[in-house]
Amino acid sequence: MESALDWDLARSMLEWQLEMGASEAIGDGPVNRFELAPEPARKPAAQATPDEVRERVEVNAVEEARIAAEGADSLEALRAALSAYDHCELRNGARNLVFSDGQPGARLMILGEAPGRDEDRQGKPFVGRAGQLLDKMLAAIGLSRGAEKPEEGVYITNVLPWRPPQNRDPKPEEIAMMLPFVQKHVALAKPDVLLLMGNISCQAALNKRGILRLRGHWAEAFGLPAMPMTHPAYLLRQPQAKREAWADLLAVRAKLEGKG
Ligand code: URA
Repeated sequence: MESALDWDLARSMLEWQLEMGASEAIGDGPVNRFELAPEPARKPAAQATPDEVRERVEVNAVEEARIAAEGADSLEALRAALSAYDHCELRNGARNLVFSDGQPGARLMILGEAPGRDEDRQGKPFVGRAGQLLDKMLAAIGLSRGAEKPEEGVYITNVLPWRPPQNRDPKPEEIAMMLPFVQKHVALAKPDVLLLMGNISCQAALNKRGILRLRGHWAEAFGLPAMPMTHPAYLLRQPQAKREAWADLLAVRAKLEGKG
């Protein structure tokens, strides 16, 4: 279709929409993502009350996640197990499974929350604005996801591998389903130290929320020292919190150097 808009006007209108929070381009025709999903969500047993069915499906979903995760003996196998796992409805609305980035075996592993729009598109964690800030923060303590030496590298993943619709917070049952995979992910990546970015990550790894209270204090998650820290997306909205984030990063650096 011919447009009456010139290029500059069209671009500034698009930028304005992004500024206002638009996160999806609506195409000419509707897309039914449930039809695009490789396998339909599993149907619960027929003869039970809706509450019983939900509970049964949740228990089953967590148990199946545990069995699938335990059976994975490599990161590739874990990725395959996640992509075959069909209990989490988030997968039906996502474009890509976002598994990880960086160097497996790096001494520092970062656990974020969930992919956003850019991560969903590219299939990699932390590649949007928050991810760019994260890369700068890591560079400030001499770490990068592209580094080859384990002591200079990082390995990055999220609690959820699929983008929640409209970036909503994950539901407790979605976190519960993903927890066995996260636990196995940490075991296979073998970091020395964990960095827990934001509330969802603390909820999954520590079963605690309240990041502004938790941040800056070493905790233990999956048998490893874990530092809760404010999420880079929060730091973009609240730049005054960067000062504390810097202190947390220095504590991580010291721990990696054996001084913390
Ligand atoms: N926020 C996250 O927690 N993870 C990502 O991958 C991107 C943004």
